Amino acid sequence: MATVPQLEDLPELDGKRVLLRADFNVPLEDGSITDDLRIRAALPTIQWLVDHGAHVTACTHLGRPKGEPNPKYSVDPVRKRLAELAPGVELLDNLRFDPGEESNDPAFVKRLVDGFDAYVNDAFGASHRAHASIVGPPRHLPSAAGRLLAKEVEVLLGLRDQPRRPFVAVLGGAKVSDKLGVIDALLDRVDALIVGGGMCFTFLAAQGHSIGDSLCERDQIESCKRLLAQSKPIHLPSDVTALGPGDEVRQAGVDLPDGWKGLDIGPGSAAEFTDVILDAGTVFWNGPMGVFEDDRFAAGTRTVAQAVVDTKAFTVVGGGDSAAALAHFGMTDGVDWISTGGGASLELLELGDLPGLQALRESVAR
Ligand code: 3PG
Ligand code: MG
Repeated sequence: MATVPQLEDLPELDGKRVLLRADFNVPLEDGSITDDLRIRAALPTIQWLVDHGAHVTACTHLGRPKGEPNPKYSVDPVRKRLAELAPGVELLDNLRFDPGEESNDPAFVKRLVDGFDAYVNDAFGASHRAHASIVGPPRHLPSAAGRLLAKEVEVLLGLRDQPRRPFVAVLGGAKVSDKLGVIDALLDRVDALIVGGGMCFTFLAAQGHSIGDSLCERDQIESCKRLLAQSKPIHLPSDVTALGPGDEVRQAGVDLPDGWKGLDIGPGSAAEFTDVILDAGTVFWNGPMGVFEDDRFAAGTRTVAQAVVDTKAFTVVGGGDSAAALAHFGMTDGVDWISTGGGASLELLELGDLPGLQALRESVAR
């Protein structure tokens, strides 16, 4: 991949106005930020810009307000936190209050860049979206990647192109259909794949197991059969923790009667997965092994998280739910890199490029 322009490649910034696209799409509960990682992650870039005399105006999307203003998705809590962490940095309204953001409307891009002298993209988590604020400004302004974006790309392309072996990917989460592309791409590069979470049941069904009332994407069974037939090992659970009639919770094998729903991998599987993770040279983990928010179904994800912390491997955790799981177990400090992007990290691993990176490389002012 051709390199993207860095902050140092921008023209003199003293007294200039810089538009900073950040991904401040933070989790909120009753209007309070529950994890400000994405705001803190942009601070090195902001600091660099301020040190070079720039006036910084940040912009972000928050949630999915679908092109119209909605107080539920107000960026006020972000603005407040940003004012504490980076006084003097302004924040525009939620970009997605305007339909032009998601449709990449040229008129919206023009309004966005009006009055600015340079553009910096530090929104790694949104750089897989070809939205106006991501791909538009580089057509009008001298543009560069911020420090966070640059680091994310370095780490994830490093995994993709020169992982220390064995390279093990651990995937969980609900849906196979969301991850089929990345599973295909990863199987070309990893030495082993571990599958847990809701999506493992479609694989188990493809192997002919009766999975009771567990999550299953019937239309993905053929794809799972195809994946299982290729040569790289795919480790699936051999036992699960299941919820049955009358809210009974039980450890079971992977053949479940009707009325029973697997909601976590079982202790035997967690131990097997641990062995594979401890022997790895590189681990990429995306997606919890079960419904970890419920203590009854947290053990599988906790054990796998502990293995990711304990292994000597270089460990990378893809954003979203797996990062939230690590935080839930207080293990955030035990991994080498926590990506701020969920979908973006998967797409970068799959394709080796993102619309936001492409736009920076094609920027007018290079
Ligand atoms: C994320 O949280 O994954 C990013 O901010 C992108 O958000 P989106 O999935 O709503 O585009
Ligand atoms: Mg480690």
